[in-house]
Amino acid sequence: MSKMSELQKIAEELESDKSLPLRESNLVFGEGNPDAEVLFIGEAPGFYENELRRPFVGRAGKLLDELIKGIGWRREDVYITNIVKRRPPENRDPDPVEIAAYSPYLSRQIAVLNPKAIATLGRFSMNYFLPEAKISRDRGKVFKVDGCFIFPLYHPAAALRSTQMLKELRADFERLPEVLASGGAGAIEAKSPAFSAGAAERPQKTNQGSLF
Ligand code: URA
Repeated sequence: MSKMSELQKIAEELESDKSLPLRESNLVFGEGNPDAEVLFIGEAPGFYENELRRPFVGRAGKLLDELIKGIGWRREDVYITNIVKRRPPENRDPDPVEIAAYSPYLSRQIAVLNPKAIATLGRFSMNYFLPEAKISRDRGKVFKVDGCFIFPLYHPAAALRSTQMLKELRADFERLPEVLASGGAGAIEAKSPAFSAGAAERPQKTNQGSLF
């Protein structure tokens, strides 16, 4: 089955899973190039994302687009999604029950995409993979979990509220191409309970040896 059909199947299962919370909101599955090297993961859709059923299309999304363009990439070349696939009321933070409910689907989505690096946007996404990490301390560091780099970044919405954060987000973002090219030199080996849930389904990278 092609990656596209596998993703389509996951989206259909998400759509019909009546046990999931937040079903009053639209499903925002994610979008982009299924063969992307980098997968961006935010926390949950907001108002505009819910309306358009697309991730990161509001103000934070415009900043994300600008950052992607700024490093010479195109939005359609990466893949963008969220941990929780439906909008929480009033844009509140997703709660642990919601995160746990959507987590098996995210694991499967990651297993299909099999990216080289996951850039987490904000602390919810970072802590999903690295429960002990602290965003102000660990953003911009490169972690390696199960052969995949985890690169924690500030959430663009937070950066829109703080000039200092915006500066740091820009600086971290500009390092993304180098993180991919580095082959993991200097990456911090980490274990991730969330990630290993999907690890069994991740295809073994045949070139893993050459990456490090
Ligand atoms: N914030 C998120 O975390 N995700 C989106 O899709 C939009 C805003």
